[in-house]
Amino acid sequence: TLPNYARIVEVGPRDGLQNEKQAIGIDTRINLVNMLAEAGLSYIETGSFVSPKWVPQMANTDQVFAGIHRQPNAAYIALVPNMQGFEQAVTAKADEVAIFTTASETFAKKNTNCTIAESIERFKPIIERAKALNIPVRGYISCIAACPYEGLIAPIEVAKLAAQLISMGCYEVSLGDTIGSATPEQISEILECVLPYVPADKLAVHFHDTNGRAIENIHVALQYGISVIDSAIGGLGGCPYAEGATGNVATESVVDLLDKLNIRHDINWEKLNKASQYIRQALTNSAP
Ligand code: HMG
Ligand code: MG
Repeated sequence: TLPNYARIVEVGPRDGLQNEKQAIGIDTRINLVNMLAEAGLSYIETGSFVSPKWVPQMANTDQVFAGIHRQPNAAYIALVPNMQGFEQAVTAKADEVAIFTTASETFAKKNTNCTIAESIERFKPIIERAKALNIPVRGYISCIAACPYEGLIAPIEVAKLAAQLISMGCYEVSLGDTIGSATPEQISEILECVLPYVPADKLAVHFHDTNGRAIENIHVALQYGISVIDSAIGGLGGCPYAEGATGNVATESVVDLLDKLNIRHDINWEKLNKASQYIRQALTNSAP
């Protein structure tokens, strides 16, 4: 059955902007985050503390955190790959952190230069310290349906990894269709496999829209009782280590789906559209 209420995790300032070709000014990043919060988005992935050699677009995320106007009821999240990134997130006063691993060994190597098992080892001290500091930790699993290098991924690998992240202390696991290749049937198969390990109230979905299927796939996830949806304003984004992967599903499209299904949310359409127009214009103006 469908949930009554859905929460959107806005990933545009991180997942969206990390994949833009041109340099994006700090002020633009700050303005975008502020406008998203104004529009009612209460979970905003504000940036990442990763190696600037790997993802130059996310350099100076500390300045973004320092410059935003924080709404009291919003959580500003930082994506971190390791302890070094976590410490930067703490210094920047991120309200939450997100850690990320993947169901594909090759993708783990290409994206974070380690094996899946090594990524889990990196998370252990992070989660321990986060607990001591009262910082909630969100976990991502990418390539839940397919990997750009390995092809199809077995759903049981996703289920085992999701269970592991929850047992380690993540409050929620976001399931990523990184290359947007999944069909509704595959999403259904994956969720049937994962749900016996992790209940719907600890899962989120994170779909890229490469094949235009993200909205259908989110509808499937909602039917399984999953009520947390990751999306990016204007459908920005992709992943620098998954060539051809286009943007995340657009926040506007998710809000539209929720309205059609009579599922409550906190988003103000008018302000959301303003934020969308703002970032489109800013990207056009700074196009190389
Ligand atoms: P490495 O090269 O193996 O790192 O990269 P290292 O530990 O050997 O360190 C090498 C250098 O990097 C050192 O600097 C470190 O200080 C520095 P040097 O001594 O050479 O000057 N370094 C850092 N600098 C800043 N911040 C840090 C950091 N850590 C080390 N946190 C590493 C390993 C994990 C750092 C690298 O692979 C990396 O940053 N990867 C991140 C890639 C990334 O951000 N990908 C996109 C996000 S994931 C995604 O988009 C998928 C998702 O959306 C879900 C989905 O769609 O499915 C989440
Ligand atoms: Mg993503």
